[in-house]
Amino acid sequence: MDTTTNYEFINTSPWVNRIAKLPFPLGTLIFLLTSKVAREVFKRIVVDRSTDTALHPIYDYDVNGSGYSVWDHRWQSSRAAQSLRFRFNWINDRLYDLLGQPTPNRHGRIQVVSLGSGTGRAFVETLKKIDLKDMPIMVNFVDIDERAITRAYKLAHKSELLKHINFINATSTDALDRFGDGNVYLVEMVGIAEYVDDKWLKNEFRKISSVLQTGGYFIGAAISSDQQSDFSHRVLRWPTMTYRSEAKLSKLFDSAGFRSVNYQECGVFTAWIAQK
Ligand SMILES: C[S@@+](CC[C@H](N)C(=O)[O-])C[C@H]1O[C@@H](n2cnc3c(N)ncnc32)[C@H](O)[C@@H]1O
Repeated sequence: MDTTTNYEFINTSPWVNRIAKLPFPLGTLIFLLTSKVAREVFKRIVVDRSTDTALHPIYDYDVNGSGYSVWDHRWQSSRAAQSLRFRFNWINDRLYDLLGQPTPNRHGRIQVVSLGSGTGRAFVETLKKIDLKDMPIMVNFVDIDERAITRAYKLAHKSELLKHINFINATSTDALDRFGDGNVYLVEMVGIAEYVDDKWLKNEFRKISSVLQTGGYFIGAAISSDQQSDFSHRVLRWPTMTYRSEAKLSKLFDSAGFRSVNYQECGVFTAWIAQK
């Protein structure tokens, strides 16, 4: 399966780098005063403490959409914001590749696990595009945050997908233990790697490999470049993250038991599709 995509940055705005140099809280004030998308993202991170929904206004941004100010466009054409959308699209495309086409050797229930699912938006959007009639697919949304699970439930309910989604309020490590070895077709993990250390991640990769059936897939992404980290942390007040290059990720994958791992650069993120 060729999964390589050439993402091109369009009119990348230098304003994020400029504002990141200003002392706190000057940059943050300018950012908030100039853009409604910025205010929405900031509120969700700092007031709601919800990193899952914080990304939604960035995923939703449309360069041709109405109602955006010049400054909304400037912030949203930063390298970091464009990278986030590249990552979201790449993961969605892989989910559709794997779940959207009937696969000849499938039998029984198709178990899928989304670790750190948040609202589960990528899956909901993918499942909505698939003809689910006669598809014995069950997507397990796993999130440590009960509020994220509640939001995921509401979104799945609204999209009439409850029959195909199971909700697990637990840590990813505990949830993986419930599946037993070799029972899962696909594991997806986006938005956890950034907040854990190498030892934890290495162990989690091994666990993921264990629950996968032979030939099963692991899709994920992690932040890899700190190019715009000053903006993320100083201006946006995003929690501390660990940045891992493709080489670093590949070391963590080394002993996890996958037969292949393909990497995709999505700007400041590295995404992967691994097969057991
Ligand atoms: C940045 S959000 C990403 C949500 C979604 N995967 C996305 O890409 O939009 C990270 C989510 O992972 C959850 N999370 C973080 N660590 C976790 C863990 N160890 N086990 C389960 N969920 C976790 C958080 O509660 C949050 O909802």
